Amino acid sequence: MKKNNKNLNILLGITGGIASYKSCELVRLFVRSGFSVKVIMTEAAIKFITPLVFQELSQNPVYLDMFSLMKEDNIQHISLSQWTDMCLIAPASANTLSKIACGICDNLLTTVVAALGQSKKVLLAPAMNENMWKNPIIGDNVKKLKAIKKYFIMPPEKGELACGLYGEGRMPEVKDIYSKTISLLE
Ligand SMILES: Cc1cc2nc3c(=O)[nH]c(=O)nc-3n(C[C@H](O)[C@H](O)[C@H](O)COP(=O)(O)O)c2cc1C
Repeated sequence: MKKNNKNLNILLGITGGIASYKSCELVRLFVRSGFSVKVIMTEAAIKFITPLVFQELSQNPVYLDMFSLMKEDNIQHISLSQWTDMCLIAPASANTLSKIACGICDNLLTTVVAALGQSKKVLLAPAMNENMWKNPIIGDNVKKLKAIKKYFIMPPEKGELACGLYGEGRMPEVKDIYSKTISLLE
């Protein structure tokens, strides 16, 4: 690892899916291990879980809006992309994954990802309904990201899905996402 954990910064992107509640535990794991964590939530994510939870767990402000008038520092998407050592998106929705693959920058999270330096890795932990995961258009977007060195995708697991069906689409276990993040920082 290039720095000790205390000096490592992780930007955690949370998108709109039921699995977002599991990301609370992820933040706790990183914070307990000495990482600094800042959370960006999409507009859809805050329909599932309140930003207050992540603010308290991360002990940092939660970032929601690219056009925020809170002048905390410089332009948010630039300062966050400079601050972080890597970006983790968990859960990564089909929508956000596809937008990133296409270079779309229409919210704070996708814009920060686009503005990251080439040496900064992006790990996505997708969670979605099995049909969405197996949709060839989303599959092409996954392949597109995998072909670029800095993007890493943890395939979703098989199990009971939020939609009540059994299939491939569950977000990988939090401990596995944590371990994969650590290995990417080494
Ligand atoms: C109850 C519910 C659960 C959802 N779960 C998921 C999910 O697990 N994965 C996913 O890709 N989209 C899911 N969606 C759809 C996304 O929330 C929707 O595509 C949204 O536009 C994603 O926006 P974001 O990528 O900006 O967060 C769900 C929607 C609802 C209403």
